[in-house]
Amino acid sequence: MSLFSTPFDPARDTALVTGAGNGIGRAIAQALVGEGVRTVFADISAERVSAAIGASKRPELAVPWVGDLAELDACDALLATADAALGGITHFVHSASPPRREADHALAVDRRIWQQMHAVNLDAGFHLARELAKRLIAAKRPGSFLFLTSLHAGTPRNLPHYSTAKAAMAMLVKELAKTFGRHDIRVNALVPGAIAAGGVRRGSRAGAAHSARASRRGQ
Ligand SMILES: NC(=O)c1ccc[n+]([C@@H]2O[C@H](COP(=O)([O-])OP(=O)(O)OC[C@H]3O[C@@H](n4cnc5c(N)ncnc54)[C@H](O)[C@@H]3O)[C@@H](O)[C@H]2O)c1
Repeated sequence: MSLFSTPFDPARDTALVTGAGNGIGRAIAQALVGEGVRTVFADISAERVSAAIGASKRPELAVPWVGDLAELDACDALLATADAALGGITHFVHSASPPRREADHALAVDRRIWQQMHAVNLDAGFHLARELAKRLIAAKRPGSFLFLTSLHAGTPRNLPHYSTAKAAMAMLVKELAKTFGRHDIRVNALVPGAIAAGGVRRGSRAGAAHSARASRRGQ
């Protein structure tokens, strides 16, 4: 049985999933190849990409890519890989996000962690989506883009680098939906509740308690 009421068209559809090495991104990328869609599995961890592809139903439909999406050059390299391997992407899922460490609260988070969280979630998401949209618009092809945001786009989490990145991403989704919609490209946010995956790093006992409370609400 298909996961979707209207299955993808493997002759037309291709996908790029960031954060495909673990958690939600991995599950989405694996579901896509399971539906017959050729999919780029993009992640910073070669080991995770290889394990995610190896555990998927149709590994022959997966294209591995490993790099740090905090770097703009790496985003361009990912686009080049996607173009060369699949000849254009119709479905983009942006799930990559650096780990959320309880120790990086408002009084402690340093500049590098702050910038990395924003670079991966927001800068890479915007750059990849805009470049993929330009290609679809030029080819007059429809597409769909999905961004993983968070309930903490709207409520504080005492991880200000994370909540502000997701809040900006939530607005980015609205901006892109408005602009790309007229070109037949749907842009949506997926706002998960708490999903057991690898993203949260607990620190102190107090941090763990805070994390458990936050997890009940959604990360
Ligand atoms: N799990 C939850 O409960 C939850 C709740 C709300 C929102 N979200 C969001 O959903 C998305 C997926 O969450 P998850 O829990 O599955 O995450 P996860 O930590 O399990 O997986 C994220 C993946 O992104 C990769 N990644 C991290 N930094 C990267 C970089 N610089 N370049 C390329 N890849 C990088 C990691 O290697 C990892 O495989 C995230 O955007 C997260 O913020 C998750």
